[in-house]
Amino acid sequence: MKRSRRDDVSQDAVQEVVLEEPEVSGEALDKVAEVERPVEKFKIDKEVPQAKVKAETRKEMTVQDLPGVGAATAEKLSLAGFDTVMAIAVATPGEVVQASGVSEAVARKIIHAAREGLDMGFQTGLEVLERRNRMTQISLGASNIDQIMAGGVHTGAITEFFGAYGSGKTQFGHMLAVQAIKADPECHVIYIDTENTFRPGRVYQFAEGLGLEPEKVLANIKVARAFNSDHQMLLVDKTAELINEGTKVKLIIVDSLTAHFRAEFVGRGTLAERQQKLNKHMHDLAKLADMHNLAVYVTNQVMAKPDMFFGDPTEAIGGNIVGHNSTYRVYLRRGKKGTRVAKLIDAPDLPDSECVIMVTEKGIENAG
Ligand SMILES: Nc1ncnc2c1ncn2[C@@H]1O[C@H](COP(=O)(O)OP(=O)(O)OP(=O)(O)O)[C@@H](O)[C@H]1O
Ligand SMILES: [Mg+2]
Repeated sequence: MKRSRRDDVSQDAVQEVVLEEPEVSGEALDKVAEVERPVEKFKIDKEVPQAKVKAETRKEMTVQDLPGVGAATAEKLSLAGFDTVMAIAVATPGEVVQASGVSEAVARKIIHAAREGLDMGFQTGLEVLERRNRMTQISLGASNIDQIMAGGVHTGAITEFFGAYGSGKTQFGHMLAVQAIKADPECHVIYIDTENTFRPGRVYQFAEGLGLEPEKVLANIKVARAFNSDHQMLLVDKTAELINEGTKVKLIIVDSLTAHFRAEFVGRGTLAERQQKLNKHMHDLAKLADMHNLAVYVTNQVMAKPDMFFGDPTEAIGGNIVGHNSTYRVYLRRGKKGTRVAKLIDAPDLPDSECVIMVTEKGIENAG
């Protein structure tokens, strides 16, 4: 039923929405969140993120302090989202050239200076360990799937759930949003919704199931509809802005990661461009995960493999680009009697394993 409703949207309607996009995109996060939020208006959490505090106390460097960056260049960089030394330090020369119009040589010099300023060189193994120790997990709502994921969805990483329609990817997105806020009632969740499948009602049920106040949970979820792939990418930049302004974000959900890309880039000739954009999109997400120790949860569909005669005749969309950029990948499929089978694949530090769960009205439970 859900599928047909989504498919029913006429081409004209889609066109209309896309045309409106520039108006919407500027303040999309705030506007949409206002509509979706049932109660109180969002209050900006004044706490300054860790990475920013560190960067600022260490050198107190601003973008304008970088050699080759005058007021005009700083302004252009800022408009393109490169408004901190950290953002520039982790940018590519091409990105800086595009944002500011400086030559590539100057861009390299600016990035180099930003990196020097931030002392982004080698870390000892011990420092890496301390950093890893700061990472936390967000529960997926059922103990058996948490167990195969070593506690749930990890901060500092991208977790991809892929599977056919109705396999439960969106349900897990909703559950994670609620669990993140349960673990830290001060934190916020960003939900980038590309298919209009965010349901406040489901959040309400899951929150109630966990004994939380549903309105409080909903108030801390910022939902943004992404109207096309460019808009989807822009929303990640907007999220970075929110974080830099002091919003404490613990989880970013992109549901679905690939649907717009798949719909917009049709045919073999466009494949390279699609993969390049997807790659950038995932890099942007990975950067945020790493810089701010937050979790990123993305969903992905599968397509039929016509040349496959044995085993599972499906594969995830986005190929190697999505696969390589996701730290943890879970394949969801329907099991017996309404259950779902979740299989962890290719995790860097965990064994491949699977478990059976059940989506219920109140939550997600162990099954099988
Ligand atoms: N209130 C509910 N109680 C029990 N099960 C539910 C409830 N709401 C949804 N579900 C289950 O979740 C399924 C939908 O899963 P979900 O929307 O997460 O799929 P998906 O993997 O995101 O699919 P798509 O690829 O179409 O986005 C339903 O088919 C149903 O089995
Ligand atoms: Mg879905």
